Amino acid sequence: MFNIKVPATTANMGPGFDALGMALNMYNEVEIQEQEDGVEVIWDGMDVDLPLEENLIYTSLVLVLDRYGYEYKGFKIRMKDCSIPLSRGLGSSASAIVAGIAAANAIMGGKLSEDEIINIATEIEGHPDNVVPAITGGMVVSLSNEGKVVHSKIDVPENLKFAVMIPSFKVSTEEARGVMPKSYGKSECIFNISRVAMLVNAFNKGEIEKIRCCTKDMIHQPYRKTLIHGIDDIFKKSEELGAVAEFISGSGSTLISVVESQNTGFEKNMREFLEGIEGGWQIKMLEMDAHGVRIDI
Ligand code: HSE
Repeated sequence: MFNIKVPATTANMGPGFDALGMALNMYNEVEIQEQEDGVEVIWDGMDVDLPLEENLIYTSLVLVLDRYGYEYKGFKIRMKDCSIPLSRGLGSSASAIVAGIAAANAIMGGKLSEDEIINIATEIEGHPDNVVPAITGGMVVSLSNEGKVVHSKIDVPENLKFAVMIPSFKVSTEEARGVMPKSYGKSECIFNISRVAMLVNAFNKGEIEKIRCCTKDMIHQPYRKTLIHGIDDIFKKSEELGAVAEFISGSGSTLISVVESQNTGFEKNMREFLEGIEGGWQIKMLEMDAHGVRIDI
């Protein structure tokens, strides 16, 4: 029996569309064991009715086992804790894919390297920015080169916390990708290229005062804003409350404020503000998860 714990992830972080991502200390936890006959999925304390063929943990698990020719009869999959909300831009599908691949690897005796796990997870998810930090932990820049993912970790200043503001409404990644243009002009490309390069350097060197201008973006956020009612007011309030920067988490609907740990009033003041607007917003103060997927055998 394997116990697998996978962190939530935030992708893009402003200008780093499909390239930047970071693991957060919010987790999904699942227990997987082989059994003699059939597949059983148990959702502890949750009322979920998800067809097996739509369960990304199961489909990723069997994809890997089939690819490596491992013969199996059945599985018991126990969803112990699902803290990562669905369709909110916090990497719930990446966490399921990574859990399934990690379980398959453990069942096969750990024959896959981290790079092989990253490549399979990216193949399933379609882009690397959530799955890579879910596997490695930390803040990571990733790209696909000739069919293989190349990734590199970025230092995150220790005093930064992440105010994760989650609304009650969902935004599907498909819809959020659908509202983006098919092509961009030179000025938009330069705007984002310069900012994502500066953002990585500012994080690595702890140049916190540069992070606000670097998290601006002209590739996805201006278009996705239309799907997230209240975003302008929340971002304005966040800046007034002294946040370092704000961005849409992945494809939304969650918003994230980067906050210095000495800004102790941010959480309370932002919670009061969110309670006064529509959208059923909740706020959680999270930190970077440095470890990524954990598996206990
Ligand atoms: N980079 C992806 C996007 C993350 O923004 O569409 C969501 O899965």
